[in-house]
Amino acid sequence: MADIEPFHVMDILARARAMEAEGRSVIHMEVGEPDFISPQSIIDAGVQALQQGKTHYTPALGLTALREAIADYYQHRYGVTVAAERIIITPGASGALQLALGVLINPGDQVLMADPGYPCNRHFVRLFEGQAVSIPVDADSAYQLNAGLIEQHWQATTIAAMLASPSNPTGTVIDQAELSAVLSVVAARGGCTLVDEIYHGLIYNVGGNAAGVTTALALSEDVFVINSLSKYFGMTGWRLGWLVAPKAYVDSIDRLAQNIFLAPSTPAQYAALAAFEPVTLAELDRRRDEFQERRDFLLPALRKLGFDIPLTPQGAFYLYAGCSRFTDDSYAFALDILEQVGVALTPGRDFGDYQAGQHVRFAYTTSIDSLKQGVERLGQYLRKG
Ligand SMILES: Cc1ncc(COP(=O)(O)O)c(C=O)c1O
Repeated sequence: MADIEPFHVMDILARARAMEAEGRSVIHMEVGEPDFISPQSIIDAGVQALQQGKTHYTPALGLTALREAIADYYQHRYGVTVAAERIIITPGASGALQLALGVLINPGDQVLMADPGYPCNRHFVRLFEGQAVSIPVDADSAYQLNAGLIEQHWQATTIAAMLASPSNPTGTVIDQAELSAVLSVVAARGGCTLVDEIYHGLIYNVGGNAAGVTTALALSEDVFVINSLSKYFGMTGWRLGWLVAPKAYVDSIDRLAQNIFLAPSTPAQYAALAAFEPVTLAELDRRRDEFQERRDFLLPALRKLGFDIPLTPQGAFYLYAGCSRFTDDSYAFALDILEQVGVALTPGRDFGDYQAGQHVRFAYTTSIDSLKQGVERLGQYLRKG
């Protein structure tokens, strides 16, 4: 447990809640989940499942109908054929990450990942007695691992590389040709690549051009792809995600899933069937467009205030902003901003060590009106010095 760190933003959140209880207003730009509730069609399907008594376990790998609905989704959205048998329904992307790393890691195995990156990954690796190797990344590689970095850090004990595209905390996407090169470099060394596509539904136009991003599954059948109903689908609290695994691993994953989780939530799986219906997808795409509008407001506004955001992130709902003009202790900076002007941010230290004190993450998971107020308050704070 000594190696498992808490989310530092929880301190910020606790203080924000205490301030709100005292009647002070707080603009929340720290929250890593959509502000929208689940679409009504999903809620209705969940309620209906409960009323029909669908409260027993499902198979450990999930409902066949849901695995098939996800296979259809890959076909329709990306034009990629994925066998439903390779799709495993999990308790969130969190469950998918645990299963994938659980079947891959032996004690002492090394797993490469980007710093900054999603903090739980290194803790999952530690849980299975592996060793997470965090590789510093910056704007030069779009905050992503690339083939060169992987070649440079690969050791005899390295077994896998993990990527997230779009990334949390940077929102940046790995270039398709670069991803292809990563897959080749890792495969040539007998390793596995895991790509977390949890923010994949939330990819925006850049400068009027569609980002044209496809899934890693279009490039290889040997990649592990992690996804979730949490972010684009707006179902964080239902706890449902999925893993697409190479065929040879599915039996081991089944065995591990039976032991760790027994099965993913039954009502949530029935609710998720509605998530892939055309009407729901149309609603989710409208929400995605709203996230894009928020990004397009917040990014120039933060740059104008003096935050350093060198790239326009193509996805997720985060901006990872350099704040070295103001501080080299972004944790103290975030706490002070909260205290002085009531804006909650996530400090860089939640995403690793590399230049963590010089970065904060802004989440645009709140309305444009709140974002505008947030920017105004930040302006006041920074002008006071
Ligand atoms: C990159 C990334 N992966 C995985 C997760 C876990 O999500 P969930 O378990 O809700 O699907 C998150 C949550 O913030 C995330 O940002």
